[in-house]
Amino acid sequence: MFIRQKTLVQGAVAGLLLLGATALAARAEETVKIGLIVPMTGGQASTGKQLENAVKLYMKEHGDTVAGKKIEVILKDDAAVPDNTKRLAQELIVNDKVNIIAGFGVTPAALAAAPLATQAKIPEVVMVAGTSIITERSPYIVRVSFTLPQSAAIMGDWAAKNGIKRVATLTSDYAPGHDALKFFKEHFTAGGGQIVEEVKTPLANPDFAPFLQRMKDAKPDAIFIFVPAGQGGNLMKQYAERGLDKTGIKVIGTGDVMDDDLMNGMGDAILGAVTAHNYSAAHPSEKNKAFVAAYEKAYNQRPGYVAVFGYDGMHLIYEALKKTGGKADGDSLIAAMKGMAWESPRGPISIDPETRDIVQNIYMRKVEKKDGQLWNIEFETFKDVKDPGKTKK
Ligand code: PHB
Repeated sequence: MFIRQKTLVQGAVAGLLLLGATALAARAEETVKIGLIVPMTGGQASTGKQLENAVKLYMKEHGDTVAGKKIEVILKDDAAVPDNTKRLAQELIVNDKVNIIAGFGVTPAALAAAPLATQAKIPEVVMVAGTSIITERSPYIVRVSFTLPQSAAIMGDWAAKNGIKRVATLTSDYAPGHDALKFFKEHFTAGGGQIVEEVKTPLANPDFAPFLQRMKDAKPDAIFIFVPAGQGGNLMKQYAERGLDKTGIKVIGTGDVMDDDLMNGMGDAILGAVTAHNYSAAHPSEKNKAFVAAYEKAYNQRPGYVAVFGYDGMHLIYEALKKTGGKADGDSLIAAMKGMAWESPRGPISIDPETRDIVQNIYMRKVEKKDGQLWNIEFETFKDVKDPGKTKK
């Protein structure tokens, strides 16, 4: 009896264990895990917050089940430090067994994760980082954000054609800043323009005041600016404090500096600034109006381009899963993502099947005041722009 009981108990335990293991395995297969690595602290914290907001909004609107799979997002803060990114990506892949890694608020973070995506054969969905070469670092990288050459080249052409002859540049001193400077310069000088001053600002804790003084002293027709998401507010406040808005020197740049979530805090000093970019919260489409309204309702704040990137990143993942019928291995997902096209709040976008990089409209915009608020008002559209950095190094 005792033995039998023992046997019975043993059998029951074994059965339960087996059941448990089967249920666990089934649950694991029923869940698609996304490791979202973003900067929630440090100088780029606003980027992480916007991505988190956008991912949550997308999931609230579209549910957390796709093609029969439950979507689980595991958010990790790398503070935009690439060593952290690498460690977190490794933990997510090895311990949490994520199917996808996503996020990456700065280029060094996206690059640090690339070899891990290749090794694990899982997609790395780049939601922010904008240096051209990133997608070449792993066949498992797909980018939904942008490249700096996409907007800098167009800005260079536009400046040369619109009466701007002498430009001083202020660009952040790391890879995307180098891309922005190179492509602006090439296009602007090819159109007859001249660069009269070039300053590079540090990525971490920049004090822009001395750099702005050099801009002012150079007496250019315009200042071309690239700083990453989150830094424009501080920069343009210092610009106004030094009275640069009273000098007649125009502000031009990639749209990063005129980030929608910060521009109302910059004040009227930015009126008239012209930038080239992929997204404006004032983009006049129904899709964008609905997105801005939903984001403002949820977070009491205007979304910037980073929020749109996060929203589109989730769309890419959801639609890829629908296409694979829920198959979540890296090769199936990457194949599904290649060539995917959809309407984003920024306008029509697609993933280039050859480069896995984003193809999108670039809009010329000018800062104007409407109903007491500052907006980037689009006035010209360049359609379906591929990354110029891919063909021309
Ligand atoms: C980057 O680090 O690649 C980066 C981040 C934010 C931007 C642009 C580029 O707005």
